[in-house]
Amino acid sequence: MITFVTTNPGKVREAREYLSTPVEQVAFDYPEVQAADLATVAARGARAAYRHTGGPVIVDDSGLTIDAFDGFPGPYSAYVQDTLGIERVWELARREDDRSAAFRGVVAYCDGTAFEATPEPVDTERRGQDLGVDERAGATTDEQVAETELPVRLFEGVVPGTVVAPRGESGFGYDPIFEYDGRTFAEMDTEEKNAISHRGRALARFAEWYDRERAADGE
Ligand code: IMP
Repeated sequence: MITFVTTNPGKVREAREYLSTPVEQVAFDYPEVQAADLATVAARGARAAYRHTGGPVIVDDSGLTIDAFDGFPGPYSAYVQDTLGIERVWELARREDDRSAAFRGVVAYCDGTAFEATPEPVDTERRGQDLGVDERAGATTDEQVAETELPVRLFEGVVPGTVVAPRGESGFGYDPIFEYDGRTFAEMDTEEKNAISHRGRALARFAEWYDRERAADGE
């Protein structure tokens, strides 16, 4: 069994669709570090979640990255949504010639044990880019260094798209201004969106790895 540490039951429902192992929710609101990339936020979250539960955990972190803004708002997506609002994000993006963007999600897994050799996530498209995080960079005390050594596996899912004027009523967050294949996420129903979502892609990659690990362990 895996524990999904999140306050969002919708994420847990989505995870159950991908994982063959039972998933339970623990609504522990771990403190999120401020970092310029989603992978660091997710990795730190997974360690905090593991320390809280003491068993195998996943957490996820996601956001919208806009190419013309060097990936902003990325890990600050929730904050920017609450402060600027998505209409104003669109107003900023519309001035740019390049309005390409992506939803990115990182699922982080921690069970307190070290994993087989490959330290990199199961992601061939962006291997070694924003997931190649040097987490020790900011660690100064022994405690902080030890903290970075609890092994975490990261799995990224990416959906490329374009920032557009808001359209559509469903979904949440940035869905109305994110267009994929001619429609915004807010113009799709939940099922359609989940089938292509960044979180789904990250969960699928995690499920593939997790099942393989368990099979190798003879479980
Ligand atoms: P979190 O991963 O739930 O913390 O998501 C962070 C923020 O990213 C959310 O508050 C939303 O603003 C944005 N976000 C993440 N996933 C989506 C999505 O599927 N649609 C729209 N916005 C999203």
